[in-house]
Parts: sequence; C-alpha cells; structure tokens
Amino acid sequence: MTTIGDIIREELPAFMESTKKESLRVLEVGVLRNLDEEHRDGDGHSTLAFARLLKAHHGSELVGVDLNPGEAREAVDREGLGNLCTFHAGDSLKVMARMVAEKETFDVIYLDCDNSGSATMREYLLALDLLRKPGLIMGDDMNTDHQEIRKGRVLIPYLCEEGVMFRLRERHTPWDTRDILIQEIR
Ligand SMILES: C[S@@+](CC[C@H](N)C(=O)[O-])C[C@H]1O[C@@H](n2cnc3c(N)ncnc32)[C@H](O)[C@@H]1O
Repeated sequence: MTTIGDIIREELPAFMESTKKESLRVLEVGVLRNLDEEHRDGDGHSTLAFARLLKAHHGSELVGVDLNPGEAREAVDREGLGNLCTFHAGDSLKVMARMVAEKETFDVIYLDCDNSGSATMREYLLALDLLRKPGLIMGDDMNTDHQEIRKGRVLIPYLCEEGVMFRLRERHTPWDTRDILIQEIR
C-alpha cells in the first residue's frame, strides 16, 4: 500500500538530487485537517511527511495554507517540527494571489485543497507563478474517472491538451486509489 508519505519520501529526495538543491521551500495548499486514523488513511497526513523530511535538510521550510490550519499547527508542534512551518489561514486562491503579489517563491508546491476542478485549476495557475524553477508541482486526487473526486477534472485534460510533461502516481486509501500529479518544471 503506497501512501502520500511514501511518494513524498521518494519524489522530494530524487528532485533534490537531480536539481542539486540542498534545501527546499515547500508550499502545501490544503494541510492536515485531523490527526485521527481515518484521515491519516484517507488524506495521508502529508503535512507531517513534508515536515519530517524537511527537518533533515537544513534551511528548508514548509508553508501551509488552509481555511483552518489549527490542527496542522498542533500536529507539527507536537513533534517538535513547528519551527520549520508557517501556516496561513484563509482561502487558498486569495492567499496564493497575495503571495504572488509579494513575490514569494517555492521549490515544491503540493495542491490538496478544495474538491473542485475549477478551483484546483486556478490554484495550479497561481502555483506556476509561485514556482522557483527548476520546481516541482504535485497534486492529490487527480483521478478523472472517480465518482466523488473532482480536483483533476479540469487540470489533467488541460495538461494533456497543452502537451505538458507530467506523471501520475497512485496512492492507496483503504477504499480506493488516488492519482498524484508529479510535474517537474525546468
Ligand atoms: C484533503 S484535506 C488536506 C489533507 C492534507 N493534505 C493531508 O494529507 O492530511 C483538504 C484541506 O483543504 C482545506 N480547504 C478546503 N477548501 C479550501 C479553500 N478554499 N481554501 C483553503 N483551504 C481549503 C480544508 O480545510 C482541508 O483542511
């Protein structure tokens, strides 16, 4: 069973190796919302996976955006990872647009927010403006044929139509399989 943690632990070191980056600034859009087992299995607790990995790379930082980042803040503080993490409370599109205006940049951006194809597409376009190249964009729930999962329904057809290079990896929940977008932009 592959989790988002497994994918983060594989993709980020490979990206660092290929780009020779020794530290990463990561933006996670949609952070850990609940520490219980059901959410760990369903969502993946990616915030903890990022923070644990970044701790090993001096100078790295995790920036999270969420309507309510309170649970993520508690989770990283409980593990002594809080000093690596900054959380912004607010709507993803508004916070990301503000970050663009403030000329913030990130090496890795993970989109895992609203279950809406159009919102995810708009987050992706903002992510392109926030990415420090070479950069890595990742996104959860990119299935285009899942009854309830809608995040990738606009973005994945758009990337195909544009002829953009990307990969989809699978993570498993106890109930189904989710497609994870992996796009390295040089
Ligand atoms: C699927 S969860 C993220 C799970 C997390 N990445 C993990 O692996 O544990 C989605 C999160 O997006 C947040 N969210 C939903 N819509 C949002 C919006 N418009 N702006 C900011 N955050 C939003 C929710 O509050 C929730 O915490």
